[in-house]
Amino acid sequence: MTGRTAIAACLLAAACLTGCDGGGKPAAVDGDPQRGRLALTQYACRACHEIPGVTGSDVQVGPSLAGLAKKRIIARSLPNTPANLAHWIRDPRAVDPATAMPVLGVTEADARDMVAYLMTLD
Ligand code: HEC
Repeated sequence: MTGRTAIAACLLAAACLTGCDGGGKPAAVDGDPQRGRLALTQYACRACHEIPGVTGSDVQVGPSLAGLAKKRIIARSLPNTPANLAHWIRDPRAVDPATAMPVLGVTEADARDMVAYLMTLD
């Protein structure tokens, strides 16, 4: 897999997350799960994923996101950390060029909010 780029990007994201902790940076740092739930609807993630608490079709193109917080590995090869999850949501093709999950143009703030919500799914 193309892990190097992914890992580099994730380290950067992680550095920002830690660096911003308690540092008075904008609210986007710690995602807001309620906004995240809305964003999951707005970006139509439900078109492909079953997501508890988010309404939508029952079509399952991608894996169910139920119990995501308990998974060790996501997308077959990524350790499940908030930074990796956000990176995957924003640019799955950078992690795995062959993945069927499209790049949906998710903003950084929206990705953090989604992660905050998805991390409640245990
Ligand atoms: C067109 C269908 C499609 C859409 C829309 C889509 N995904 Fe995916 N998603 C997939 C597929 C297919 C996979 C499996 C990827 C793989 O393993 O290569 C996946 C994997 C994932 C995973 C990893 C799950 C796991 O257990 O490994 C997460 C998290 C995820 N998607 C979140 C999202 C979010 C958040 C959105 C909305 C911004 C979204 N997806 C939109 C198809 C989609």
